[in-house]
Amino acid sequence: MSSDSDTGAAPAAGRVRGDRGIDQASAIIDPDVPSTARAYSALLGGKDVYESDRKIVAALEHAFGDPQAAARTNRQWLIRVVRWLSSTQGVNQFLDCGSGLPEAENVHEVAQRYNPQARVVYNDNDPTVLAYGRALLAENEHTAFVGEDFRDPQKVLDSPEVHQLIDFDEPVAMIHCFSLHHFPDEPRAVKDLLDEYMAAFPSGSYLALTHITYPRPENDPTGRAAEICDEIRGRIRSLGMDSGYWRDYDRVLSYFDGMEMVPPGLVRTAEWWPSGPPRLTELDDVMFGGVARKP
Ligand SMILES: C[S@@+](CC[C@H](N)C(=O)[O-])C[C@H]1O[C@@H](n2cnc3c(N)ncnc32)[C@H](O)[C@@H]1O
Repeated sequence: MSSDSDTGAAPAAGRVRGDRGIDQASAIIDPDVPSTARAYSALLGGKDVYESDRKIVAALEHAFGDPQAAARTNRQWLIRVVRWLSSTQGVNQFLDCGSGLPEAENVHEVAQRYNPQARVVYNDNDPTVLAYGRALLAENEHTAFVGEDFRDPQKVLDSPEVHQLIDFDEPVAMIHCFSLHHFPDEPRAVKDLLDEYMAAFPSGSYLALTHITYPRPENDPTGRAAEICDEIRGRIRSLGMDSGYWRDYDRVLSYFDGMEMVPPGLVRTAEWWPSGPPRLTELDDVMFGGVARKP
């Protein structure tokens, strides 16, 4: 992401400057309002953040100790899922909802490694992602970006970008990686939204999602976990960000009702390895690597 100066500071308030075809008209960034996209990017090492975002990161650190590790684990899950879908299931179309700011390995980079023709539509409605992500994510003719709120499925599905890249007769993988817990079930339940999208896609399509969940009872000896999570949401809200809608495991599991779960099911993200560790080829036996530190 580019910044407004060489200092690494985020761009000044107001309309952002043009760069690489950035959409200036639609992106107005208020530095006093923290952004889930920027705060999450900060957890992954992104430097272009405002003070308002740093306060969110500090609140998460206070609550969880190492939210950075959680963000990295979540991102690695995304990479494994896309790799699995592309390389073993032959999925060539992706709708990545709540895609966030560009990171080291974005969905199209992973998918196009296996199939250069793989098509990816990114979606996010955060002003900073609109300003910067759009240009960086939609970087080749097989990728596009839709800046709509994904809670309006028809707007997303009817967008010119989706129509240009997605063939509704071919399987589509819809991804919601850490994007659904930023809003409540009103006015429309998350499950309803997901169903509306999935109804538009043919048999053989996939839904892939991660979501923050309340600890299960066996991991909550005091029985106060839900209360604590809700307190954290209150703290984040007091800092200007409406987010942190924890849901319980069964609720998140219900989002897949009507679909066949891919083994190992809804598990901790670090445990989702359906095709096991990297598969070895014969050539792997004649390639070795190591790292040494000079004292
Ligand atoms: C925590 S980030 C996750 C980014 C990326 N999916 C990942 O997991 O690495 C959540 C993203 O969801 C986006 N988001 C939240 N609600 C949204 C909505 N209603 N419509 C579109 N994007 C949304 C936010 O702007 C943010 O960029």
